Amino acid sequence: MAVSETTSERTAVASSVSSTKAAGFTVPSTKEIIITIDGPAGTGKSTVARRLAQRLGLDFLDTGAMYRAAAAIMIDREYGEDEIGELVSTVIGADLHFDWSQDPPTILAWDTPIDHRIRSDDVTKRVSFVATIPELRTHMVRKQRIIFAQHPRLVTEGRDQGSVAFPDAPVKFYLDADPRVRAERRIDQLGLGGDVSVEEMCDRILERDRIDSTRSDGPLVCPDDAIVIDTSSMSIDDVIDEMERVVRDRLDEL
Ligand code: DC
Repeated sequence: MAVSETTSERTAVASSVSSTKAAGFTVPSTKEIIITIDGPAGTGKSTVARRLAQRLGLDFLDTGAMYRAAAAIMIDREYGEDEIGELVSTVIGADLHFDWSQDPPTILAWDTPIDHRIRSDDVTKRVSFVATIPELRTHMVRKQRIIFAQHPRLVTEGRDQGSVAFPDAPVKFYLDADPRVRAERRIDQLGLGGDVSVEEMCDRILERDRIDSTRSDGPLVCPDDAIVIDTSSMSIDDVIDEMERVVRDRLDEL
């Protein structure tokens, strides 16, 4: 199984489109680096991570997409919450991997793109449960490390990237924001304007925070050595400028 995980990432196009779109300051092409971005939902993590990767000339890994893919598989195969073993085996068999020729890289299961499926409301509701399954988290973290071995110039974002998956990362960020601001951003991101009120989304987000922070395996925590950025009243550009400054300073020390 480890072989198939490795093979699918290895056969992917090594330099993603995000690498070729870099503008301005880029990390020297000889430098290998991993930058982790942790934090709760709605802090702008995905957008910021993707744009930071573009700016710095690095690849971008959206680890939430991997848990969402597992949730989509759980729903589509109609697994119950007591069928964890079957679910984990099926997800392992699906050999989740990314098509790095796309920007952002798209996720595939059984070699079929499923990016259109993973942002659905039913998946968003189910994914917190899926992300509490220890065997699944172990599998995902192992895959993420394989991906880094094959994409050694990487910006990776998720709840546990700096704390669990890459504790030795030289640059770690933790993004935070006011829950109401996060709810508004989430509604925009998922195109749910008019369907879900800010209050309802805020409740959902706080519930997800609770589940994410209290699970026993890979809980959402701020790594001790992370740089915390509160994005509540910052534009995406401001956040990226700030991160770029940090990365430039840190690169001088590496
Ligand atoms: O960032 P997102 O909303 O796409 O993440 C989907 C879910 O997956 C969310 O409940 C948190 C979880 N997740 C996780 O537990 N660990 C990660 N590294 C990434 C996401």
